[in-house]
Amino acid sequence: MNIDPKDKRDIFENDRSHFMLENAETFLKLMSHYECAMMEVETKLKVLNSEFSLLYERNPIETIKSRLKKPASILEKLKRKGFPISVESIEENLFDIAGIRVICSFPEYIYATAELLVQQDDIHEIERKDYISHPKENGYRSLHLILEVPIFLSTGKKFVKVEVQFRTIAMDFWASLDHKLKYKKNLENADYIAHQLKECADIISSMDRKMQEIRSMIDSRNYPPELMENSDFDYGDEEYDDSYDEVSWSDSYDFVYSNDDGMSI
Ligand code: GTP
Ligand code: MG
Repeated sequence: MNIDPKDKRDIFENDRSHFMLENAETFLKLMSHYECAMMEVETKLKVLNSEFSLLYERNPIETIKSRLKKPASILEKLKRKGFPISVESIEENLFDIAGIRVICSFPEYIYATAELLVQQDDIHEIERKDYISHPKENGYRSLHLILEVPIFLSTGKKFVKVEVQFRTIAMDFWASLDHKLKYKKNLENADYIAHQLKECADIISSMDRKMQEIRSMIDSRNYPPELMENSDFDYGDEEYDDSYDEVSWSDSYDFVYSNDDGMSI
């Protein structure tokens, strides 16, 4: 498994007094199980995306990012939540060790892709938090699923939990700025900034809806009557060079296997 040398230092040097030193082997084994589960879910998402693009000539997924939670963050979360510090406790209590973020172009693709994923008969849906239909007070929107997927080891089948976060590009843009601001200490006018961010979240949400409406209009060619008379408003294939939109498989994906907490989950 690919554990960053920096993370190995985290385990073996920074946490001398902790359980990880004595349990390094079991800990690394568990991490490799999370990594396998993450790969399984990524493959399922890639298959759905490629099938979609064959059937409907479009990719519902723009980007997939994955990350394994860093040992230091795992330890910090166990302590913060008051859970026992042990390898078993990680498995029992933390459901976001393996994290996948799926960025879709439109909100409707989020639900379509999520449903196609969870209805697969080897996947168990453990938890669903729909912050799109019920945004957080600060304006955060995303669909969070905790899934359990089987991995097949020499010792047999094991179900492993993976957190999958679905967002639109616009929601992701908002969340990354929000996340950056959280780490700015002693921010002046924090209330004002929170208020401005909430406004942006609402604008983004109505923009996502509007873009989706435009997409459906183009798909169904069901334009409002006043536009039908205007022959200029024709997304005719000959006139519009869409070769830039048909990104090849490898270009359309930007897998970020990152052990730093780039994903912040
Ligand atoms: P944890 O025990 O920390 O997982 O808390 P939780 O399960 O209540 O968290 P939740 O499922 O609501 O969110 C988990 C992850 O979603 C976070 O680690 C972030 O990656 C992301 N997230 C949730 N809320 C926000 C937010 O307000 N802003 C940003 N930028 N990200 C958020
Ligand atoms: Mg969580």
